[in-house]
Amino acid sequence: MKLENSTINDIRNGVDIVDVISSYLPLTAKGKNYFGVCPFHDDHSPSMSVSKEKQIYTCFSCGATGNVFKFLQDYENISFMEAVAKCADIAGIPISLGQYEKKDNKYQELYDIYEVSQKFYQNNMNSSQAKEAKEYLYQRQLDDTLIKEFGIGLSLNESNMLTKLLKKKNYSDKVLLASGLVGEENNRVDLYDLYRNRIMFPLHDSSGKLVAYNGRAYHGEATNKYVNTKETPIFKKREILYNYHRAKEVARIKKQIIIMEGPMDVIRAYTIGVTNVVASLGTAFGSEQAMLVRKLSSNVVLCFDGDAAGLKATKSAIEEFAKIGIQPSVIRLEDDSDPDEYIKKYGKDSFLEKVKNAMNPIEFKEFLLKDNLDMNNSIDMANYANAMIEEIKKMDDEVLQEVSITKLSEETHLSLDFLRSKIAKEQQKVVAQEISSEKKKKLTKCERSERNLLYYMLRFPNAIKMYDKKITHMPTDRYRHLAFQVSTFLKQYGYIDIADLLTELREDEEAIETIGELSSLTLPEEMKVEEVDDYLKNIKEYNEKLQLDKYRKELFNSNNYDRKLELAQKLVDYKMRSEEENARD
Ligand code: CTP
Ligand code: MN
Repeated sequence: MKLENSTINDIRNGVDIVDVISSYLPLTAKGKNYFGVCPFHDDHSPSMSVSKEKQIYTCFSCGATGNVFKFLQDYENISFMEAVAKCADIAGIPISLGQYEKKDNKYQELYDIYEVSQKFYQNNMNSSQAKEAKEYLYQRQLDDTLIKEFGIGLSLNESNMLTKLLKKKNYSDKVLLASGLVGEENNRVDLYDLYRNRIMFPLHDSSGKLVAYNGRAYHGEATNKYVNTKETPIFKKREILYNYHRAKEVARIKKQIIIMEGPMDVIRAYTIGVTNVVASLGTAFGSEQAMLVRKLSSNVVLCFDGDAAGLKATKSAIEEFAKIGIQPSVIRLEDDSDPDEYIKKYGKDSFLEKVKNAMNPIEFKEFLLKDNLDMNNSIDMANYANAMIEEIKKMDDEVLQEVSITKLSEETHLSLDFLRSKIAKEQQKVVAQEISSEKKKKLTKCERSERNLLYYMLRFPNAIKMYDKKITHMPTDRYRHLAFQVSTFLKQYGYIDIADLLTELREDEEAIETIGELSSLTLPEEMKVEEVDDYLKNIKEYNEKLQLDKYRKELFNSNNYDRKLELAQKLVDYKMRSEEENARD
């Protein structure tokens, strides 16, 4: 069963894109539009504009564009139908979900396989062969409630139980191998379970779908303590944070997100009521993960392991966050302990105190600088002062800046006046950051006409009719393609609306990209018929010129006398026609 297009459009009209987007990120009104930091690239100044009137968003920097459905799809990493359902919910339009949900995902089989595997691994945890694994978990202070809550499973010391189960459910070998749970030997003759004898921590994508496992060895000395599922169409390790889907709501409410290294740390934090927490799954922290975190809160607390690797991870995460304008605070744990060990050893209150007193960015810098400095040595002291000035000048928060200057003055006995004027001087040197300006491509006269014509076609049925009536076509592929779609939309629905068109073209990346390009144009709002006529004329002339060039070339190269004659005639005809037309104009 399919949801009617008209219902989908009603649902879209039932919500305001400005309200929806501003529930995810702050928008500021500027003129007719709203602006915010684009969540779809590593943006640091507001490049995304949201139009209340057109009900679409466009990023001038990365070109992301779409209507409210597309925003929700990409932001929440959900399917089109899920986005429609979400809006229906906001708009208070009842649709019965079950029948539409999930159906439009091309990787559905992979998701289904993971559902099966999850039940299978969890079941194993209750089997008689789970004794050792359970003892291991209990000894690490994970009780049955936690095991259940976090869906922790177990792969047994058997070679192909899961594979057999999946094959019984009729999944093809190809899909099984693609899932990352099944391996092959002898050219697909023998398929086997890739995970054996491991405690299985399920990994979910940002929308909460199970997509992979982090499998931990629990007895003997396995070569790899942790084994992650290989990359699959539904699992990109770079884009995963452990526990993200559970932490989402609470991080937004608490306006704070804490980042740790591993599942054990996160689960331990849960036991003391700290639930706004995710894990990076190791010490590498990349830009995709930083962008995911930014979707929850810009108040980020890094709480990596207390060891040297954890410190290194902290520094590189800070660099990653700096690129998107976030300055995280930092917790450093004593005696190399990780959050799991720390909480077990020192208890809830001590950890909460750590969170409360997390070092702000400048305090962390100080912490790093002071580590190797002898404050009684003048040169060390000068180095320290210079490094701190370097940091302070970058601060956005004036109060924090003033506090830091005062503190630095006390520490170094340099006068406040001196420090202030030094910082002021330094700041003048900082070149104002260039606001990423719209990438203006140099267009030819014809391309400009095509583009401007499309701008009006997206808004006025009359422009579309004028285009359809002329016996010409747009020579530029991407423009011609969109023009065709626009014209088809009008024929089918009898009106034109960019946001509804975007729904219709949701699978058509090329068309969406072109709409994005057009959305950032600023042309007069009103359509002038003469202007549209001009565009059409330019396009027509260009097409004819192309055609003539072709004739001339052929005339020059051809050895066939009849054909030559025919071509010469065509050229003469054209010349006469255009003279006539010029006389008429
Ligand atoms: N990790 C991984 N692959 C590795 C090593 C680590 O995926 N080869 C991830 C795991 O998710 C792990 C996290 O990085 O939980 C942090 O690594 P580490 O500190 O070594 O593990 P712990 O969390 O301390 O794990 P445990 O307490 O079980 O030893
Ligand atoms: Mn650890």
